[in-house]
Amino acid sequence: MHRLAALAASVVLIAGLQPPPVHARAQAQAADHQAESATISQGVVESNHTGYTGTGFVNYDNATGSYVEFTVNAATAGPRSLSFRFANGTTVNRPMSITVNGTAATTGDFPGTGAWTTWQDATVTATLNAGANTVRATATTANGGPNLDRLTVADAPPPTGSTPVEANGRLRVCGVRLCNKNGKQIQLRGMSSHGLQWYYQCLNTASLNALATDWKADVLRISMYIQEDGYETNPRLFTDRVHNLIEQATSRGLYAIVDWHMLDPGDPNDNLSRARTFFTEIAQRHNAKNNVLYEIANEPNGVSWSTIRSYAHQIIPVIRQYDPDAPVLVGTRAWSSLGVSDGATESEVVGNPVNATNIMYTFHFYAASHGSEYLNALSRAADRIPMFVTEFGTQTASGDGSNNFTRAQQYLDLMAQKKISWVNWNYSDDERSGAVFTEGTCPNGTFTGTSRLKPAGVWVRDRIRTPDDF
Ligand code: GCU
Repeated sequence: MHRLAALAASVVLIAGLQPPPVHARAQAQAADHQAESATISQGVVESNHTGYTGTGFVNYDNATGSYVEFTVNAATAGPRSLSFRFANGTTVNRPMSITVNGTAATTGDFPGTGAWTTWQDATVTATLNAGANTVRATATTANGGPNLDRLTVADAPPPTGSTPVEANGRLRVCGVRLCNKNGKQIQLRGMSSHGLQWYYQCLNTASLNALATDWKADVLRISMYIQEDGYETNPRLFTDRVHNLIEQATSRGLYAIVDWHMLDPGDPNDNLSRARTFFTEIAQRHNAKNNVLYEIANEPNGVSWSTIRSYAHQIIPVIRQYDPDAPVLVGTRAWSSLGVSDGATESEVVGNPVNATNIMYTFHFYAASHGSEYLNALSRAADRIPMFVTEFGTQTASGDGSNNFTRAQQYLDLMAQKKISWVNWNYSDDERSGAVFTEGTCPNGTFTGTSRLKPAGVWVRDRIRTPDDF
């Protein structure tokens, strides 16, 4: 509960703060924003607990949705540390959602500080625009926010750990494995987007920040459908979306898989001339980057391996002409099942590989549909040819239905053991069980934490977050 501010301003000045050195004070003043001068919704300015700065602090109403909103000017756009000085005399965390310009940036924890007179900083990182920004801290529980003294804005420190791309550099296929710039065998783990024609709004600053820093993903798969209202309807629009997402992944130190998401028709040759046009532009634009992988055919179906292989022989030189060093990922027969869904096995690929270097073959599985026959094929194949699981789900092949976490864990154990990189389907708020976010999460979030995740999302986030072995 908040109380009326009863103390006179003159009494407030006993707060007991040592004046900071002149130099430090000049710096601090430039970036300090006192809560008592901000816009307050459901809260009052008080001064009855010593130790605050300025002329008081905001006592939030003990209510969900109570907030303090600051106007923050930034000389340049970019990431900033937002430090909220607060006191919480209870023992219960008072989490707040931090939004920047109306978009959920992150959540902050405001745990007990030991006393209402003990103040400390809670720091989050968010990206500001150049010019004026509104930064709002909104209580997300019925206890309301803590007592809030001020917001200090500073340039964000460089990331403490290095990013996946900084750590590994340009990747290269080494034997049947994927290796980093030092020749070390590594495994990448990350998420695939859903179709860019439907769920582009799930790929914004906040969600991609969450993927990089909260999920701690290594790789983003950019899933661009060709049919189903995708690329063929507007090549310029969709190519530009892919360009943008490659840049977004790059700025966060993530690898980017450019997924030519052909599906129906199932013969990749039917889209060959479109693929030439698209991959030419992508490879020309991004060949100086070291984090791009090209996936040339998502899920061929209804065609033989030799037909897929012939397509690979057409399209790989198109990419290599401009980007000679990037790994290329080749789809396999029957929806990238290594042929198993057509009653075949990996032996058709092992016995007749694509005639190119620095390539890997893709395998997709959905744990509730694809049992030991598929698992064993992947296991055998990974000993003979370079494999990359560019899609999997814990549910059925439709990406929906109940999860088989037990089976999915068997696949993950195998992929950890054989260092097979994997990407989960999918990072969207589609209604199906395989879309990690609950419906309506995009575009505003919250993308960090687990509050908006479906069960499959909680499960896969936990597994992506486990430390990498780079
Ligand atoms: C106490 C305390 C207030 C605080 C309130 C709360 O009343 O004196 O400063 O805001 O608890 O629980 O929010």
